[in-house]
Amino acid sequence: MRRGGRPANSHEATDRTEPTVTATLAASRRIARRFGRAAAGYDDAATVQRQICEHLWRLAQDHPPPPGAIVDAGCGTGHWLPTLSVGFGERLLIAADLAPPMLAQLRHREPGQPCVAADVHALPLATGSVAGIWSSLCLQWCRPEPVLAEFSRTLQSDGTLWLSTLGPETFAELREAFAGIDDASHVLDFVGVDRLEAAAASAGFNVLAQRRQRHVACAPDLAGLLRAIKAVGAQDVGDNRRRSLLGRQAWRTVEHRYEAFRRADGLLEVGYDALYLILRKRP
Ligand SMILES: C[S@@+](CC[C@H](N)C(=O)[O-])C[C@H]1O[C@@H](n2cnc3c(N)ncnc32)[C@H](O)[C@@H]1O
Repeated sequence: MRRGGRPANSHEATDRTEPTVTATLAASRRIARRFGRAAAGYDDAATVQRQICEHLWRLAQDHPPPPGAIVDAGCGTGHWLPTLSVGFGERLLIAADLAPPMLAQLRHREPGQPCVAADVHALPLATGSVAGIWSSLCLQWCRPEPVLAEFSRTLQSDGTLWLSTLGPETFAELREAFAGIDDASHVLDFVGVDRLEAAAASAGFNVLAQRRQRHVACAPDLAGLLRAIKAVGAQDVGDNRRRSLLGRQAWRTVEHRYEAFRRADGLLEVGYDALYLILRKRP
């Protein structure tokens, strides 16, 4: 697969200035709305998201939590809760998500499941109250430093955090195809593993395991690929997003460039650079 240089509109995630509280709240509301709109169709569309949960789950087998409650932070529709429940035995499981429609899907399927509409930057849980936090594909929508500090606050000492998120190569094909098309961002900036590990260390975690794996989504054409991304609510690209439709000529240019990523089986693909971290809170 062809890989290009950095597009003009990309920024190193580490260069981002601290957002104001208002900007953070606005971003949270926007993200909650997007995921809320995707909630009803999420389980059908979330093929890569499920693969990533499976991979994280395999890693988690070697690093079980101490006795106590487990939180699924950014649980979405809660499709991974039954696995956590069976795999980690009888214990309290709490599901948390920013988007109420995601939790509505969960309540519909698992009526008795304790769940809370909450932002992982400020969980409504007592300090040191949980033994494990499972968080798959939520952190990339957040500021990693305060969220890892919040996870650390919530965990008891020796508690385990199983984390998956998306790394900088995620959607590299889209980044390349949209490069220089306009001044807007078309792909979110994803944080690298060095910054995550530094944030984890300063939040009081030891790294037990770390992996990186590419997963792909496919579609017959670019519009189909973008629909697949939108179907799981993952289309937010931050404040510098384009607010109007792309012109026809610009769209044709992007489609033409994307042909570089057509595979031998005739499908176009887009990559997810999945980062996996298993962390233990230091005593
Ligand atoms: C890609 S989905 C992943 C859902 C599920 N964990 C999975 O593996 O399929 C991301 C989820 O994170 C939630 N989310 C995003 N930002 C959040 C935040 N700041 N606090 C809590 N949940 C958040 C979204 O509402 C969405 O349900």
